Amino acid sequence: MNLTAHNTLRIAARADQVLQIDSEAALAEISQQLGQQPRCILGSGSNVVLHAPIPATVLLSQIKGRHIRPQGVLVAGAGENWHEVVMWSLAQGYGGLENLALIPGTVGAAPVQNIGAYGVEISERLINLTAWDFQSRQLHTFSKAECGFAYRHSIFKDPALQGPWNQPRFFITQVQLQLAPIAKAEVNIGYGDLKAAFAGHSNPPSPMEVADAVMAIRRRKLPDPAEIGNVGSFFKNPIISNVQAKNLRLLHPDLPQYPLTDHGSDQCKISAAWLIERCGFKGARRGDVGVHQGHALVLVNHGDGTGREILALAHEIQQAVVARFGVFLEPEPVFMP
Ligand code: EPU
Repeated sequence: MNLTAHNTLRIAARADQVLQIDSEAALAEISQQLGQQPRCILGSGSNVVLHAPIPATVLLSQIKGRHIRPQGVLVAGAGENWHEVVMWSLAQGYGGLENLALIPGTVGAAPVQNIGAYGVEISERLINLTAWDFQSRQLHTFSKAECGFAYRHSIFKDPALQGPWNQPRFFITQVQLQLAPIAKAEVNIGYGDLKAAFAGHSNPPSPMEVADAVMAIRRRKLPDPAEIGNVGSFFKNPIISNVQAKNLRLLHPDLPQYPLTDHGSDQCKISAAWLIERCGFKGARRGDVGVHQGHALVLVNHGDGTGREILALAHEIQQAVVARFGVFLEPEPVFMP
């Protein structure tokens, strides 16, 4: 089966078999049937690069359902669309997810890479998540602490726990997030672009107004996967030592740097987009793949680009950035196979 419709880079990779998983019971059954045969998990494919045929059974995460318990606990099935859940929670009168509006992907994929935008990461809202364990063939609940969250990372991205791409141990089925009633919600508008959007406003904006501003910024800067294939940021913003950052700043005073609170005071994060743009790649094109002209961190598929072409371009960018700045860019999406 062709997976073009199941990955937002719109790569035409093929898979042996594709199965829709719409309940926890279906997982138990599939577990039994597949045994140790190769398998992999796809949500809406918004953070994967399929760069060759997939010699495995693809399990599509489609467990639905959403409700909000008293005390603002949002319970959502892993196969729900993330952005729809964000907008629905606001319409139900709860804030907390507004900064994460319009991020492509499913609810279950969101904690895997600890999605984050405009000053908020999902880890700040997560209470716990439930996952099917293919080893013990049982459901297991992970507290926030057990998820091992870091910048664009969790244990579900760690091969030491999750195993190789074709033998993933855990399949996330449900996520619980802590929201706040809109009247009590504290909005976070400290991130540069958002701060600018509300400059001059005397009253703090409502969560809905923040979501509107976030959506406007994203639509201005980032390509819509429905129009042009992409997986959002292709590289993480590199975390480097303060010493290296200071040396880089001497040579490049305008390189954006962000202090880290959670990674110790001897490191900071720098802008990958800035490094890539300075190496001349913004808007560059190699056949049918390229770098988005509006944001240097986003690789795009202009039509019939292949996963291999995307990887070749990513490699070319990594080499250029290392050669010029001595900084390694770590890819953000997961590569399959
Ligand atoms: N910049 C450039 N050239 C560009 C784009 C940006 O030099 O083409 C510089 C600008 O100085 C800008 C700075 O980079 O001020 C930061 O840009 P932006 O606010 O767009 O954020 P980012 O660091 O490039 C990160 C996330 C995005 C998230 C935004 C907003 C990562 C890898 N990416 O991008 O997440 O939306 O911040 O919070 O951390 C994603 O993960 O797919 C994603 C889009």
